[in-house]
Parts: sequence; C-alpha cells; structure tokens
Amino acid sequence: MNIIPYRTLLPAFLVFILCSAYQPGKKAVTLPKPVSAKSIDSLVKAMTLEEKIALLHGSGMFFSGGVSRLGIPELTYADGPLGIREEGERATWNSAKWTTDSATFFPNGSALAATWNPELAYRYGAAMGEEARARKKDILLAPAINITRTPLNGRTFEYLSEDPFLNTLLAVPSVKGIQSQDVAACVKHFAVNNQETNRGTVNVEVSERALREIYFPAFKASVQDGNAYTLMAAYNKFRGEYCAESDYLLNKVLRKEWGFKGLVMSDWSGTHSTVNSAKYGLDIEMGSDGPFESWFFAKPLLDSVKTGKVDVKLIDEKVRNILGVMLQTSMKRNRPAGSLNTPAHVKTAYDIAAESIVLLKNETKLLPLKAGTFKSIAVIGDNATKTFARGGFGAGVKARYEVTILEGIKSKFGKNTAINYARGYAPARIVRGQTPAAPKLDSTLLREALAAVKSSDITILCIGSNREYETEATDRTNLTLPYAQQALVDAVTAINPNVIVLVVAAAPYDLNQIKQVNRTVLWSWFNGSENGNAVADVLSGKINPSGKMPFTFPKKLEDSPAHALNTFPGDANADYKEGILVGYRWFDTKKIDPLYCFGYGLSYTNFSYAPISTNKKVYHKGEKITATIKIKNTGRYAGKETVQFYVSDLNSKVFKAEKQLKAFNKISISPGKEATVSVNIKVDDLAYFDEKTNTWIVEPGNYKLIAASSSKDLRQSAVISVK
Ligand code: BGC
Repeated sequence: MNIIPYRTLLPAFLVFILCSAYQPGKKAVTLPKPVSAKSIDSLVKAMTLEEKIALLHGSGMFFSGGVSRLGIPELTYADGPLGIREEGERATWNSAKWTTDSATFFPNGSALAATWNPELAYRYGAAMGEEARARKKDILLAPAINITRTPLNGRTFEYLSEDPFLNTLLAVPSVKGIQSQDVAACVKHFAVNNQETNRGTVNVEVSERALREIYFPAFKASVQDGNAYTLMAAYNKFRGEYCAESDYLLNKVLRKEWGFKGLVMSDWSGTHSTVNSAKYGLDIEMGSDGPFESWFFAKPLLDSVKTGKVDVKLIDEKVRNILGVMLQTSMKRNRPAGSLNTPAHVKTAYDIAAESIVLLKNETKLLPLKAGTFKSIAVIGDNATKTFARGGFGAGVKARYEVTILEGIKSKFGKNTAINYARGYAPARIVRGQTPAAPKLDSTLLREALAAVKSSDITILCIGSNREYETEATDRTNLTLPYAQQALVDAVTAINPNVIVLVVAAAPYDLNQIKQVNRTVLWSWFNGSENGNAVADVLSGKINPSGKMPFTFPKKLEDSPAHALNTFPGDANADYKEGILVGYRWFDTKKIDPLYCFGYGLSYTNFSYAPISTNKKVYHKGEKITATIKIKNTGRYAGKETVQFYVSDLNSKVFKAEKQLKAFNKISISPGKEATVSVNIKVDDLAYFDEKTNTWIVEPGNYKLIAASSSKDLRQSAVISVK
C-alpha cells in the first residue's frame, strides 16, 4: 500500500474543512483554526486556472465568484455609505422586493464630518458592519472619502470634508468599526474622484505634492492605521491612465509604499481593459455590462493567461489577495451574526444627527425655543415632510423608518402647541441632462404658507435641497437654492422677520441673503432615520448644537479655488491648478472672505479659551508636541466645543498654505465649568511633500499653533520651534 505524503493531503484536508464548515445562508460559521497564509497557499494550489479566474470578477451585481468545489464562498457586497442598501436582483439594478431588508439610515458623510467626532465614526462603522452581517454581506462599499474639491460635486453629501486631516480622523474609525464586525470596509474611490461631470472619462492632472498632502492622506491612513481590507478604484483617469489600471496608484503607491495587502475592486463598470488592469493592480472587476463570461476579467483574462499575455503568477497574487480578505470575512470562524435596526444602531444614528446640526446664526437668542412663550408653530417647506434615505442616482437605504422634521416637531411640541404645516414650495421634477426652466413659486402653495405664518406665533421654514437635487452622477451647476426657495424665504421673512430658517442640505449653497437678513439660521443634513427627532431636540434645547462645517461656503462660486482658476469641470482633462490650496487653505492664503468658513458652527452657550501651553518650546523630528488649553463654558447651557488646532509655518522657505488643521478635540463642558484639552501633534506631521526628492521634509524654524473655534475664529496661539 502506498503511503500518501502529508503535503498532498493538506489541501484536501483544508478543502474538507472549508466545505463542511461553510454553508451559505447559515449564520455563525465555525471554521477550525488555523486559517492562515499557509492555507491560502494550499487553496491556490488546489485551484484550476478557471476557478482562479472565477474569483476575479462579478458573478452578480453585488457578488463576485467563489469556488464551491473547494468550499470558497462567493463574496457578497452591499452599498453604503448611508446604510446597507436594499437587496437587488442578482443580475440587475432592480429591487429584489424583499420584505426583510429595511435598515437603519445613517446620516450622510458630510453630516458625520460635521460632528468632528471620531468616536461616532467608529460607532457608525460598527453599526453598519453589524447590519451588513445581518444581511450576510462580506464587503460594505463604504466609507466614501474623496475630498470636497468643489462645492458643486454631486457626491459632496456622501463624502466627508475638504480637509485631509478631518477626513483621516473620521475615515479610520469608520473602517475599524465596519471591520470589527468581520465585514470588509471598501474605501472609495481611489483616487482624485472629485467630480461627477465626465467622471467616466475625465483625466485628472494634479501635482505630486497636492496628491500627497491633500488627496492621499485619508486613503493612506485607512490602509495603514485602519487596516482596510478592500479599496475601490475610481472611475476617472489619473495622469492618463484609468484609476483601475494605474500602475502608479495601485502597484507603486498602494501596495509597495503603503503595504496594502487587501483587494482592489473596480467601481461598477469602471474596468476598461484585461491585460493592463491585470498588470496594474486590479483584483476584481465589478459591475461591467453584458454576460459575466465576457467581462475583461472573465474569459478574456483566461485567454490572456493561456496565450502568455498575463503571467499566471499575477493571477495567483490576486487570488491570494482575495482569499486573504475572505479569511477575515466570509470564511472567518465565529463571525458575529449581525442584526438590523437595533436600539443601539438607532441611538448611533440619532447621536450623529444630533451632533451634526450646525447653528449658523442665533442673533436674537430665539433658540432654544422657550416653552410657554408660544402657542402655535408654523412649519413651512417641502423639506419638513421629505425623507432623504433614497432619491437621485446611486446608493440609498430602504429605511425601516425615517422621522421627518414635521413628525419630530409634532412629537416634541405638538401636545401643547398647534402645529400648522404648509408645503410652501414644490421641488420640480429633475430630468437628467435637461436644464430646468427658471423656477417659480407655486402661488397657491405660497398663499397657504403665508396664511400659516400669519396665524402662528413661531415659524420654522424648512428649505434646502434633497436627494434628487444632490446626487451621484451629476454635479450641480450653481450654488443657488433650488425651486425658487429664496423667494419663499423673502416672502415669509417679510411677514415674520423672526422666522427660523432651517436649511436641510449636504453641500454648500448660496446663503448670502439669508445670512444677512435672517436672524436665526440652523443647518441640518440628510440626517438619517432620526432626522426629525434630532432637529426637534436642537430646537427645544435638549441638544445644544455642536456641529461645525466640514467645508467652506464661498460667498460666490468664483471664490472657490477650482472655479477661480476655471479648472472645473475641465474638458478631457481636469487640471487641479490650485494644487495644495483646497478649501480653507485657498481662502486663507488668498485672503478671500468665505460666507461660512471651514469649522464654523455656533452653540447656545459660549466658550472662552485660556492661553495655550506646550510641553516644550523647542522640538526635534520624531517628537510630539503636546499642546494644552483650558476652555471655559461661560454661558448658561451645557455644550460641546470642538477645539481646532491649526499650524502656520512662520518662516517657510517653500510655499505653504497660511495654516492647516493638525489636531482637534471635542469636549463637553457644563455651564460655568472649565475643561482642559490636550492634543498631540507629531513634529513629522508638520512636513510638506518635496517633489524634487519625493520625500516629506520638516522645515526647521518657528511654527505658530493656533487654538480656534473655527478656521476664522482664532482664539489663542503659541510659537514653538523645530530644530
Ligand atoms: C458608485 C459606487 C458604488 C457602486 C455600486 C457606483 O456608481 O460610484 O460608489 O459603490 O456604484 O453601487
């Protein structure tokens, strides 16, 4: 009898283990240990070329291939970042019409960013991860972290901010939170995907320095600090190559420099070649048209290997990348089962919404509303009854519920107060590709609105945009409030100058007139399942607003860098001529006054800042600067303040932005009390990227640390020097 050598048996043994352990559709898979790099090798050896290729492309709209013979399950995907997208038919974009896929709708990206709260970002990720698990998803297509380069970007609502540091501090915990549930985060869209106009063809030219200082940091940190398992290549081209076949982005930077070990997928229909994509870093092709077998990474890839155009070693690498992600997700032992819409998830959605709302103006201290001083409230505006979980093009959520602003106000105040609702304006239907006619207010709606205003003690005017107006695939064409809403504001204000203007939108708009004329202005977002409750709690004072703007509102579009330099949307090329001067870096450096600056947001209370102290005066590379400051709540309400630390290089020999955010800390302080805030800034983080040497350089010299309540409200500063 022949003795079968151990090495021959090992793959068969693993196969047996995997086959017996994984049962699609059953929860809590128990796989015996170990699932390791070694077992990956064994699996790769056991696979035929056809089986390997099957792993490298979609097998459904939101599935990519597995190998059932070897017990390797398909990977299952779900869209974020607003929550877990409803189940679709396997091979189309149509709804699968499930009745069990209602999920929690989480506040949109810029809302999360406005909280300036990394802990909430972790909870957001963990809650979404848990919901993804409940839906048996392995990869969640979130977070979306592209930089807000232009206020017109249709996806500003999905993204976080204009600042790489704020982006990073929210992206990393989001990734960690998602992955804490054994679900892979998919950080998207890599890279420089900053506009929707011509997104599938536009070629982005950007300086290496801007790339490194502005567009890369959150991606790099998601990989290195967040250990993101997957990444989505962007639709656009970068320096002449599609991002899904950019040797520079995917091989040189992502894998070699940053040490990324996970898998790279294309965006949906974002693959353009077989051989180049295979060579230049793509692992999985997703969302292409036509029968799956004809996709670039299906039969054409198989043929390319057979004819020697693509080395099988390259295929093995990709298979390893994918199996590595599977071992952390679909094939992991004791995966948490997951759950949808738990009280904890709802609480997370509420907490984010509550901390994201930004108080723009409270001149007469009308807010918070004082109980007993009014008997009726007029709630005006389509946005009072609008839901934001779905709409427009792209990913949304089939929310189990969504509390509208009117519902929130009714349940908060309705017991003792008459609530008089009138729609005020009607959003025009948007036909993509058609320029809408000049909007006009509907005279009946206006009449009803003004009647409600006249007969009520208080008026809350809910205007802004919606998910049809701000959407994937289309950029806005201007900053004007849509649907003739300014005319509505004017008409209402003429009757009640104390109207509370509540703008619900997720990107900058032209609020010049409102800022000037109106006395009370509040800003909310596409704020998740608990939207209305959070808004009502801010109005009542149960929540003291603490949101701060994650991007700059220009006074006029031409003040924004990409527009000032006429580089948006570009034609075949979008040349990022503004370089590192994105967002407030541009406005500060060019001394242009914004309408609302980055980091702006008021509170019902006030905070005073004592002088900054630092642990030393002179620092060296590799050291940390510890800056400490006492903040006092000098008002009558408990509140949260986000203390922002900006750094200015006082004697730089190279061109730098006037100042840059390098740390922040959000703290809660009771009225009359003082709190100490301490932050650490690595001296190495003061570096700029030098294009000549391709290295980060910290210039010796003096640096000013500024403690600020917004990027324009600078309270204290201290000078340190770097040797
Ligand atoms: C978007 C991605 C999304 C994918 C799948 C694409 O249009 O750019 O962000 O994850 O569709 O829905």
